[in-house]
Amino acid sequence: MMKTISIINLKGGVAKTISAINIAYTLVKVRGKKVLLIDNDKQGNTSKFFNLHNYEDKSLADLLTDRDCNIHSVIKRTAYEGLDIIPANMNLLQANKEILLDVARPQQTRLRKALSQLNDEYDYCIIDNAPDINMTVINALVATDDVLVPIKVDKFAFDGLEQLLDQIANVQEFNEKIVFKGCFITMYQRNGVNVQGNEYLASSTDYPLFHTVVRKTVKVDETTFVGRPLLDYKKSTAGQDYEKLVKEYLEMC
Ligand SMILES: Nc1ncnc2c1ncn2[C@@H]1O[C@H](COP(=O)(O)OP(=O)(O)O)[C@@H](O)[C@H]1O
Ligand SMILES: [Mg+2]
Repeated sequence: MMKTISIINLKGGVAKTISAINIAYTLVKVRGKKVLLIDNDKQGNTSKFFNLHNYEDKSLADLLTDRDCNIHSVIKRTAYEGLDIIPANMNLLQANKEILLDVARPQQTRLRKALSQLNDEYDYCIIDNAPDINMTVINALVATDDVLVPIKVDKFAFDGLEQLLDQIANVQEFNEKIVFKGCFITMYQRNGVNVQGNEYLASSTDYPLFHTVVRKTVKVDETTFVGRPLLDYKKSTAGQDYEKLVKEYLEMC
């Protein structure tokens, strides 16, 4: 059975996209898994990373609005064997409105239904979500088994976490199996705020926290220019950390 993981945080710039890409690639490269990565953000950063952002091919918007759209017509190969993606672009903005207005069809369960067209082709589906709660994000949560929340520690780091938990609770009406697996700290630096932020989260019973932190390194920015996941790029702390994070995640399951 394919496991679906949502990477989500209502804040932007916390490494949702970088985490989705690198968790997906680590599962492929280190664990030999087959992974479908879904770009669920109209910014299309995951799609751009793999050089698969355009307006000619079908994208997630088509899958969610066109009743007759087969999921296989939307999936694109990346340069990496075992890693495929469903790209997104600005059409996702219109798709959100369209789903909302199209009350004749179920609105929240479309992605889950689309994913059910897959026949054991993938071990994992990783969804890179927009920093928002909209129809396509709700569709992602309804299709999700495990929720992972990247957190960058700053003054506003914990804003929106409560709302996110509320949303997960709401979605349980459609999806009983959804589990908030935990938060993990990204762009970690050994300084006072990061240590305190980590301690705060570790002591909070509302939010499970991964022991693994993903360290800050300039190599992450570099990978966005070359379009290569960390483990296919120069050796890096963050690459090792994503490997550790995946290990910690797999040991929980
Ligand atoms: N571990 C890290 N070290 C240094 N920079 C990072 C790290 N993780 C992410 N970044 C950078 O932070 C920025 C935001 O990351 P991104 O994944 O696009 O966030 P989001 O998808 O949450 O908006 C990007 O410029 C990215 O290169
Ligand atoms: Mg992003």
